[in-house]
Amino acid sequence: MYGTRLFDRPEHAEVRLGLLGFVAGPGPLGLEIGFDHGMCVLDRARCFPTIRQLGVELREARVQAAATNAPDNCLLLRMDGRTLVTALLPDASVDWLYILFPTPPSSPKRALLTPAFARSVERVLRPGGSLWFATDRPELADLVDQLFRWPVAAAPPPLGSQLSRRERVCRRDEIPVFRRCLSRPAALVGAR
Ligand SMILES: C[S@@+](CC[C@H](N)C(=O)[O-])C[C@H]1O[C@@H](n2cnc3c(N)ncnc32)[C@H](O)[C@@H]1O
Repeated sequence: MYGTRLFDRPEHAEVRLGLLGFVAGPGPLGLEIGFDHGMCVLDRARCFPTIRQLGVELREARVQAAATNAPDNCLLLRMDGRTLVTALLPDASVDWLYILFPTPPSSPKRALLTPAFARSVERVLRPGGSLWFATDRPELADLVDQLFRWPVAAAPPPLGSQLSRRERVCRRDEIPVFRRCLSRPAALVGAR
């Protein structure tokens, strides 16, 4: 599923080891899925030097360009976020998950926000960790509400001052933005 076996292959072992080494490092860890140009993830890495920031993005050119500007506390990889949370990240390894304006799926096969993804997010987020989500598509906000029946977090996760590209467009064109900031409970009830 989503190329989850890909990183078992010897040619990708280095990426996997580098990722796991970074994730095992000291201090809290933020994860952004679909960072595009990387404005937000890079900005958070610079604003909060004691927090490690991991970012994954499908578009290779974007990853290469952003990675050249990444400080030591930031690892940016070309990887499917579904592969990362389903198969690669250890349990309870992430403190904050940022999903900003995910691509509306063109087919079920490409969908990020699925029950399987939500179960994996539950696994990799620490109890008390949070999901920071924004979209200008109300149906995607509704989907997050269905998939993550979690309480609203008491406080937002660490945020820098940069807006993502899509958020700038929304602000410029006065498009409404729907946000969620949800806290992963210590105990999860019920199966999907
Ligand atoms: C609509 S853009 C939004 C980008 C940025 N977060 C923003 O707010 O402007 C969605 C981004 O997510 C990336 N993406 C889509 N599905 C992904 C996945 N499964 N894993 C990682 N990145 C993904 C796309 O390549 C694209 O850059």
